[in-house]
Amino acid sequence: MTYFKNISIIVAIAENFAIGKNNDLLFHLPNDLKRFKQITTGKTIVMGRNTLLSLPKWPLPNRRHIVISDIEGEQFEGCETIGSIEKAIQLIKSEEEAFVIGGGMVYRQFYPYAGKLYLTLVHKPFDADVFFPEINYTEWIETRREDCFDEKNGFAYSYIDLIRK
Ligand SMILES: NC(=O)c1ccc[n+]([C@@H]2O[C@H](COP(=O)([O-])OP(=O)(O)OC[C@H]3O[C@@H](n4cnc5c(N)ncnc54)[C@H](OP(=O)(O)O)[C@@H]3O)[C@@H](O)[C@H]2O)c1
Repeated sequence: MTYFKNISIIVAIAENFAIGKNNDLLFHLPNDLKRFKQITTGKTIVMGRNTLLSLPKWPLPNRRHIVISDIEGEQFEGCETIGSIEKAIQLIKSEEEAFVIGGGMVYRQFYPYAGKLYLTLVHKPFDADVFFPEINYTEWIETRREDCFDEKNGFAYSYIDLIRK
């Protein structure tokens, strides 16, 4: 399948590929939220409707928001709402780098098209109702890894950047 070098996925994932429960995140990692802000500011972020509604407030400052939903014409402040993955790809095709920020349904559809993954991998499993698609690491090249420990949560995690082979 043809992928797009300028489409990146950014996700915080547990070792069992868990990413969410009850339309919320599984853990609170302040440093990861700072990193998310740093990486996505000034860029376009693409998300499913559930992920938008899970945010405490929107739009996130200084980012173009593209929200995917079947509900035609639904207006969300500061967002462009569109009805398909294909339309999202059209809207971001001329951008240098655009970020798919979730959630599970949207990650699954974009995964084959993404050229880069920015993972925050927490080294323990979590109980969840939403999961990231299983990553076949043989299809990716690791370009960066930083191992960290969060004292408050008491778990280890790593920032891992992967580009598609
Ligand atoms: N760990 C992380 O990094 C991370 C990041 C983001 C989100 N999350 C978590 O992920 C969970 C949400 O994920 P989710 O899978 O429930 O929802 P989601 O992917 O955020 O949104 C799903 C919604 O997007 C719309 N949609 C998706 N594909 C579509 C398509 N092809 N055409 C038209 N509309 C489409 C539909 O909206 P309509 O119902 O309006 O049609 C669908 O109900 C939450 O728990 C959230 O906290 C985790």
